[in-house]
Amino acid sequence: MIKVEDLYKVYESKKKNVKEKIEAVNNISFQCKPGEIFGLLGPNGAGKTTTLRCISTLIKPTWGNIYLDEYNVLEDEKIIRSKIGFLTTDMKLDGFFTPDYMLSYFGRLNKMQKSEIEQRKEKLFNDLQMEDFIDKKIDKLSSGMTQKTAIAISLIHDPEVIIFDEPTNGLDVITAKNVTDFLEKYAEQGKTVIISTHIMSIAEKLCDRIGILIEGELKKMGSLEEIISGSNADNLEDVFYKFLIPDYGSQEGVEDV
Ligand SMILES: Nc1ncnc2c1ncn2[C@@H]1O[C@H](COP(=O)(O)OP(=O)(O)O)[C@@H](O)[C@H]1O
Ligand SMILES: [Mg+2]
Repeated sequence: MIKVEDLYKVYESKKKNVKEKIEAVNNISFQCKPGEIFGLLGPNGAGKTTTLRCISTLIKPTWGNIYLDEYNVLEDEKIIRSKIGFLTTDMKLDGFFTPDYMLSYFGRLNKMQKSEIEQRKEKLFNDLQMEDFIDKKIDKLSSGMTQKTAIAISLIHDPEVIIFDEPTNGLDVITAKNVTDFLEKYAEQGKTVIISTHIMSIAEKLCDRIGILIEGELKKMGSLEEIISGSNADNLEDVFYKFLIPDYGSQEGVEDV
């Protein structure tokens, strides 16, 4: 079970020697339990990547806490990392190596036994339909194949929690469907899955619960049905645009008066 409690993250940057504070994530709380897929849905700059990086212990919250069962990101960084598979949008893979080699390499980094690595590779290559290209150099692969390789690497140690930042970004529809089917299957097996996306149909189809994140704030959270009925809207798109575009739907408002 992942619990995010009052997460607040400020970045400090310097622009022309003037210090600037950016509130990337502003007091958000949510939970995701085993078997569930939770989706952070938001536009660019909403704070999705920042939130997922805090959960994955890559950066520290300015305030607030994040728990994985009894462990927390501030004190139990190592244990949490061993239990989490994190896919980032900016993972750089060395083009000289093959997916097969990279998975073995990351398996060894995770201190896995040789036989364990072999078993795990076989399962991931099969689940992600990678068999045709596991021995090709990464710089000869399509973006979908490279993304599958990155996904497989992030899951080599069979983590109980899967944190994927924009997992279908830049993928063709078929590969995107492979990836979302795969995540569904893993959630069914009892994994805790948290993803971010700016694509509404992904949130709608894949996620058991959705949090709408805009400018660092969670504006709505719940199942698709809860969000729609609680917002007096027809669909998720309606809810989303109501928060994003101030005048959205105001024509209907005028007619009501
Ligand atoms: N390392 C950083 N330093 C300064 N500002 C950052 C940094 N990373 C992200 N930000 C800012 O924080 C806000 C949230 O960014 P991010 O979490 O990447 O959003 P998203 O993933 O939803 O697009 C944005 O305004 C972004 O410019
Ligand atoms: Mg992002």
